[in-house]
Amino acid sequence: METTLIILKPDAVQRGLMGRIISRFEDKGLQIVGSKMMQISQDLAATHYEAHKERPFYKGLVSFMTSSPVLVLAIRGNDAIAISRKMMGATFGSKAEPGTIRGDFGVSNSFNLIHGSDSPEAAERELSLFFKQGEVLSFERACDAWVYDMSGGKPE
Ligand code: RTP
Ligand code: MG
Repeated sequence: METTLIILKPDAVQRGLMGRIISRFEDKGLQIVGSKMMQISQDLAATHYEAHKERPFYKGLVSFMTSSPVLVLAIRGNDAIAISRKMMGATFGSKAEPGTIRGDFGVSNSFNLIHGSDSPEAAERELSLFFKQGEVLSFERACDAWVYDMSGGKPE
């Protein structure tokens, strides 16, 4: 099972889209195992996006991410990182396919609603940036036996 870091960005919170976006992950069968609203500090945004430090959009990106509260989620499931990235769609709202979160809810190339970790290494790093020890939970859901085929002893 993988756990990924998802951030519902300031535009998603301000536009009242949190519930609809969370529902998509729940509908898919992924498990929400951590959740907190927060206003991201300048330092945290800079650390989170440090790979983009030299890019022309970096300043605007940090300013956007710190402009208003976000909802941070830890989401778990088999292949949760790739599945979540697929559900998010392409980076720019103008390019993202219909059926994806960015494709269905936005048109902007800057205000693109959602962040998702792009690799297991990024997920581990980002989860530890945004969640303290004990804030990402482990629990069984009653529906798990119907979300995954467990007949082979592992979730399929
Ligand atoms: P994210 O990290 O937020 O999940 O987005 P992503 O992987 O799809 O895109 P990434 O390349 O990591 O870029 C991070 C964020 O920077 C903004 N961006 N602007 N103007 C531009 O060319 C440009 N490119 C990227 C987006 O807000 C993107 O989500
Ligand atoms: Mg990225």
